[in-house]
Parts: sequence; structure tokens; C-alpha cells
Amino acid sequence: AEPLTPIRDTLDVPVGVAIDQRETSGAAADLLTTHFDQITPENHMKPEAWYDADRTFRADPQVGILMDFAVANDLRVYGHTLAWHSQTPAWFFTDEAGAPLTTSEEHKQLLRDRLKAHIDGVAEHLADAYGPFGSAGNPIVAWDVVNEVVSDDQQADGLRRSEWYRILGAEFIDLAFRYADAAFNERLADPGADRPVALFINDYNTEHAGKQDRYRQVIEGLLDRGVPIDGVGHQFHVSLATPVASLAAALDRFADLPLTQVVSELDVTVGGTADDALLIEQGHYYRAAFDLFRARADELFSVTVWGLTDDRSWLTEQSPLIFDAGLQPKPAYYGIVGSD
Ligand code: XIL
Repeated sequence: AEPLTPIRDTLDVPVGVAIDQRETSGAAADLLTTHFDQITPENHMKPEAWYDADRTFRADPQVGILMDFAVANDLRVYGHTLAWHSQTPAWFFTDEAGAPLTTSEEHKQLLRDRLKAHIDGVAEHLADAYGPFGSAGNPIVAWDVVNEVVSDDQQADGLRRSEWYRILGAEFIDLAFRYADAAFNERLADPGADRPVALFINDYNTEHAGKQDRYRQVIEGLLDRGVPIDGVGHQFHVSLATPVASLAAALDRFADLPLTQVVSELDVTVGGTADDALLIEQGHYYRAAFDLFRARADELFSVTVWGLTDDRSWLTEQSPLIFDAGLQPKPAYYGIVGSD
């Protein structure tokens, strides 16, 4: 058989994939390193991954496995995520007695301190183990600083009503970026590197006009306040029913801002159990989506798919990825690389 064209050779920006330890050895690792330039830890750099049950800060063992795999294979690492309403220890938002934090100044300061300690802890752990950010041994190139902070409903300020928001209001977003910038791009950065870690806001449904309005409003606020943000993340968990034109519209909507954009979590569900016809339609979809990304590559930081093989997808019953459970290329793969 002809060797397969590496997906990463078909796009002028890095192509990433969300993984855990299972993709770091054997045939899956070979497939990964053939086709991708970058990894996102699917779960193991989320806030809850950094704490023991007794609240002690420590890295999940998979952090080292994923980072070492990246270093050994010359892959970039896209960090996900520093502040989120989900997969975060409940104790972040409670007092010593386990009661919800109030909006008293004392409790607000407690939560600010916890946010800063978390971000500093992550940055210090990674810099201790891999050297300063931007130095040769450290593969971290970006972080989703805040994830899914935009509301799905109409809200005057466009923000999700999370525990972060209830206690600190919109301020937590600014603080997360400022703390991340100070740690990753200043204090623990290689002195010769210029802002080595790109800082992103990230969200889903950005291909929908209403969410776009609120996303834009939130991002403009950050820029107005001089918050150190580098880019706009589009998760793009889409389906065959999502017009590819709406992905283009999502990129268009932010194209005039002084920010890069990233496709952070792409997958394409087929609307049910996959059959041959749906998989071929999915192949056409991936082709059109990657044609769009190729045409807009100079505006993009990277394009990441949310998993290597269908059996490992969070939406596995809808076969949304590029390779099947047997590590074989699907029509989606042939669509991307442009063969029939
Ligand atoms: C998902 C993971 O893929 C699952 O394994 C986990 O159980 C839940 O989280 N948006 C995000 C990702 O930003 O972190 C989510 O990842 C998918 C939706």
C-alpha cells in the first residue's frame, strides 16, 4: 500500500489532537506522530487533575507521560485548561466548613488567591520539570486560560453564571489572563523568548450567531481593559447539519481583532450510528472544513481534533473523528488529504 499522506503536511499551521496516555505508545503513537504536530491533554491538565483528595497540589501522573511523549517526538503541547466551571474541585468555591463562598470581600480574595495559586502551581510544576517556557526543552506553546465562560442564553454581560462568576463576577476572567501571563510569559519564561505561551479564551457553539455576539462582547471587554489575551478559541464540536459556511462566519466575526484564532476541539458527529453513506458525507465535511482552514491558515494558531480514533471520542457513538477504532483512516482522512 502507498504510505499515507501525513495530515500535518496538508495545512500550513500545526495540526493537533487531544489525547491521554493511551495514545503515547504502540501503534496509536505511531499514527499520532505521523499525522500530528501538537497534542492537547484531553483531561489531565484540567483543574481537578492537579489535586489530591486532601487538596494537595500535585501533577496527575499523566502530565509527565504526555509532556515526555511530546518532548521525545518533537510535538507542541497546547494546555487545557486553567479556569473552567467543570472538572474543577468543588472546594475551590467553598469555605473551610464546606459552605459556598459568599461575595464578601474576604471570600472574593480567597478565591482570587486560589486562582493565582492554581495557575502559579501549574506553571511552576511545568517549568521545574521542563525548563523555562520558550526554552528548547519545554513544549508548552499555549493555554486555554478560560474555558466556556460565555453564556448560552441572553445575558447583559454575555457571561455564564458559574461559581467563578457568582463569587467574583467578570473579574475572574481578567485575573486568570493576568496571572497566566505573569507566570508563563514573564516570571517563568526564558529571558530570550518573547511571549512564548499564547493565551486563549475558548468556547463552544461559536458557529452560532447568538453565541458569537456574546463571545465578541466579552472579548472586546478584555481588549478594552488591556487584558493580555492572544487568541480566540473555537471548539467546533459540530455535526453534518452544521454548515461549513458557519465555521467561516465564526472566523470572520473575529478577524478584525488584534488576535489569532484557534480551532481547538474539532469533531463532526454524524447524527446517529454511522453507516457507509454517513461516513462518506463526513469525509466531504472534513474536506470542506480543512479547505477552509487551509484558506485561512495565516489567521490560525493551530487546528486540533478532539481525539485520535472514534472509540476514544467523548462522542464515540457518533463516530466523529478521522481514524476508526482499528486505527484505519476513514473517509474523513481521505477528505482532509484531498484524495478520492
Ligand atoms: C471532555 C473530554 O473529552 C471527556 O473525556 C471528559 O469526560 C469531559 O470533557 N469542551 C471542552 C473539553 O472544553 O474539555 C471537553 O472534553 C469537551 C467539551
